[in-house]
Amino acid sequence: MAKALEGVRILDMTHVQSGPTCTQLLAWFGADVLKVERPGVGDATRGQLRDLPDVDSLYFTMLNHNKRSITLNTKTESGRAIFERLIEECDVLVENFAPGALDRMGFSWERIQEINPRIIYASVKGFGPGPYEDCKVYENVAQCTGGSASTTGFDDGPPLVTGAQIGDSGTGLHLALGIVTALYHREHSGLGQRVTCAMQDGVLNLCRVKLRDQQRLAHGPLREYPQYPNGTFGSAVPRSGNASGGGQPGWVVRTKGWETDPNAYIYVITQAAAFPGLARAIGREDWLEDPEWNTPEARLPKLDRVFGEIERWTMTRDKFEIMAILNPLNVPCGPILSIEELALEPSLRATGTVVEVDHPARGKYLSVGNPIKLSESPSDVQRSPLLGEHTTEIMRDVLGYGDAEIEAARREGAIGSEDSEKAAA
Ligand SMILES: CC(C)(COP(=O)(O)OP(=O)(O)OC[C@H]1O[C@@H](n2cnc3c(N)ncnc32)[C@H](O)[C@@H]1OP(=O)(O)O)[C@@H](O)C(=O)NCCC(=O)NCCS
Repeated sequence: MAKALEGVRILDMTHVQSGPTCTQLLAWFGADVLKVERPGVGDATRGQLRDLPDVDSLYFTMLNHNKRSITLNTKTESGRAIFERLIEECDVLVENFAPGALDRMGFSWERIQEINPRIIYASVKGFGPGPYEDCKVYENVAQCTGGSASTTGFDDGPPLVTGAQIGDSGTGLHLALGIVTALYHREHSGLGQRVTCAMQDGVLNLCRVKLRDQQRLAHGPLREYPQYPNGTFGSAVPRSGNASGGGQPGWVVRTKGWETDPNAYIYVITQAAAFPGLARAIGREDWLEDPEWNTPEARLPKLDRVFGEIERWTMTRDKFEIMAILNPLNVPCGPILSIEELALEPSLRATGTVVEVDHPARGKYLSVGNPIKLSESPSDVQRSPLLGEHTTEIMRDVLGYGDAEIEAARREGAIGSEDSEKAAA
């Protein structure tokens, strides 16, 4: 079976996390992704948060699977000529440099289109046009400026960032969708186009329900928020703690062992239809006859007491046992799974969502595989490239340069020498 994006070639100028997330997804689906890196330096993440000396970090290896690496200095004259050849040969150019970096290299959108009118040019930036368009942005800046931090955490605490990389990986996902949409459009128009995604916009898109709540707030308190009925609401959507955010109340409650295990917790949703089963399971059948408790409206002003009673029961049982008891009763619930537990979970290994990858310098390591499954198009996970590993191969097979020209480019410093690349490792 052919991979879905076989035949699509990506000129990958991305670094750090947001851009590499996008091109890794496209590579998993079969695109030929040529990662361009500065000779002797490479993507900065190769050297960040290293767990082993002189070996590409897990930060890098886990974001750059299935790609080929070519080192190229686009700030030399012959480097620019090679870059032009790459633009000619590729379907998509993806970058997430600081604003204006590609223009400063001499490659404006107009120039890129002149070289290849069919190319799709995709970028991640921190902000769209406006007061902050020139700013450099990392994950947590996007979480703070995109609405996530102001609505995450508890009412009496500071704004919180989340561990889910919604600014970086989230925007990379948005960009990948923009690229395949533009590829589809090119099928009938024959033309490439510009695809841009701002991290602030991507985070705000993921916070869409909070903009919903902002508008509901004008018509009265948000009754599913923990501030109701005893706390106060200001003019902006407050932090909602562990409230569910949907129409069904939910909360995180402690389970057996919570005193020593930081993840001995479970999320329980008190969906109205399943409430009788839940009440019986926790030994509160009496609620079902009592008008003080037996309707969602009656329970709403005292959800803290409802979850307090649920917790008295959950604290006597292990989180997996609770899952096994409540699921057959149609009570939606989710044990708090640690990353350690997820790494060991056999079903995630079976589906390829967690994969073991072998790397020549670091040996075996775990990674998250492709979470998007296509029934007719396989996708596999291959190790990330070493710095400049495919420079000669790409120069020769993709761009058609001969040995003498490759040597000359190397002498001029347009592409990396093997030594400088090894030194950077
Ligand atoms: C992530 C970010 C903050 C990093 O900033 P940085 O480390 O200062 O890196 P920059 O993007 O400014 O690029 C550094 C320089 O390297 C140069 N460079 C990169 N690859 C090169 C190559 N192959 N050859 C020659 N020069 C190269 C760039 O042209 C730029 O030079 P310039 O400043 O003279 O224009 C910034 O790139 C950014 O804001 N990106 C957009 C938002 C984003 O994606 N953020 C999330 C990252 S996970």
